[in-house]
Amino acid sequence: MLKTKEKEESMNSKTIIVAPSVLASDFNNLGAECERIEKAGADWLHLDVMDGHFVDNISFGPPIVQSIAKIATVPLDTHLMIERPDHFFPRFIPYVRNITIHVEPQYDIGGTLKGIRAGGATCGLAISPPTSFEEVEPYLDQIDLLLVMTVNPGFGGQHFMESMMAKVKRAAQLRAERRLDFHIEVDGGIYPNTAAIARESGANVLVAGTGVFRAQDAALAIKELRE
Ligand code: DX5
Ligand code: ZN
Repeated sequence: MLKTKEKEESMNSKTIIVAPSVLASDFNNLGAECERIEKAGADWLHLDVMDGHFVDNISFGPPIVQSIAKIATVPLDTHLMIERPDHFFPRFIPYVRNITIHVEPQYDIGGTLKGIRAGGATCGLAISPPTSFEEVEPYLDQIDLLLVMTVNPGFGGQHFMESMMAKVKRAAQLRAERRLDFHIEVDGGIYPNTAAIARESGANVLVAGTGVFRAQDAALAIKELRE
């Protein structure tokens, strides 16, 4: 899957990474859509998996992720918005680079993070807007990525919540204090103006669905998010 391994290895939490969300693509042409956005300069592809329980929407699951993995040349960043990530993560492991699970459902979070790494993927932890930052604090030394949701998970095309930047700043502060190294990702309502706010707050991975897939010029949209 990773034909651009060197590129990926050069990326750490100081590199700005643009991860367009496939949720906003034209599902009639999924393969062509992924190729189009890769050519436009996407660093990762962000895959939003929804189960209709944790969020009020159903998107796609392992078979679609597997199909995307067959053609993708950039790392796949999988965002599991599901009630039982501990049960389902192994079905995604062979195909993706990163798996992010949410802190809100009731399951063994620490064990699942360990399981994801043991399976050979990197692990992320996501926090929804109403959840207080303290919930993720105990796991910061066990993750490769912290996903601070800037909209309520479930749907694309929502409005960026700037108040979530307090969480991004706190994460960056604790990462420095504890000498940790994890990406800080923002997801939801990301456009050039909100991307700039997120980057200034300390985020380095920018997920954008509508802002990239529905842009007139996807290459320009990606470039603008980065700068
Ligand atoms: C929302 C998803 C996002 C969504 C972002 O639950 O996690 O990844 O696709 O879409 P936009 O960029 O349109 O807000
Ligand atoms: Zn997402």
